[in-house]
Amino acid sequence: MSLKDLCPVLQFADLGDERGKLVVIEGNQAIPFEIKRVFYIYESDSTVVRGQHANRESEFVLINVAGSSKVRITDGREEFVVKLNRPMMGVYIPNMIWKDMYDFSDDSVLLVLASTHYDGSEYIRNYDEYLKEVNS
Ligand code: TYD
Repeated sequence: MSLKDLCPVLQFADLGDERGKLVVIEGNQAIPFEIKRVFYIYESDSTVVRGQHANRESEFVLINVAGSSKVRITDGREEFVVKLNRPMMGVYIPNMIWKDMYDFSDDSVLLVLASTHYDGSEYIRNYDEYLKEVNS
C-alpha cells in the first residue's frame, strides 16, 4: 500500500444550512478510531516546525478548523505534503508515520484528534531512531 493510501485525506460531510456550516466527526465513523484526546495548536507562525515525531501507538486526524498549515508525512521512504486549509478536510496519520507541521497561517487553528491518552514514552523524536525502528 502506498503512503498516500495509508494516510488518506478525509472529506467530512457538511451538515450546514442557511444558519452556517456544521461538521461532525464521530469516532469509528468519519475516522477510523475512537477519539480519546483532542488538542489544538494555534499562534504558531510560518517559521515554526512542529511535530517532528512518530508515535508507536497513536493514530491522529489533523484538521485546520481555521486558517491553514502544511503537514509533511513520511514513512522513511516515501514523502508527501498535505495542505490543510478547509474545516471540512483532514488527514489521517496512523502510528509509526513521521510528521512535520509547518507553514502555519496567522489565523491557523490546527485541531488534532488522537486515538490515545497522552504518553510521552510512545513518541519517537529522533529521526535516525525512527528509521532504525521502521527498518528493523
Ligand atoms: P509536542 O509533542 O512538542 O507538540 P507538537 O507535536 O504538537 O509540536 O508537545 C509540547 C508539549 O506538550 C510537550 O511537553 C508534551 C506536552 N503534551 C501533552 O502533555 N499532552 C499532549 O497531548 C500533547 C500533544 C503534548
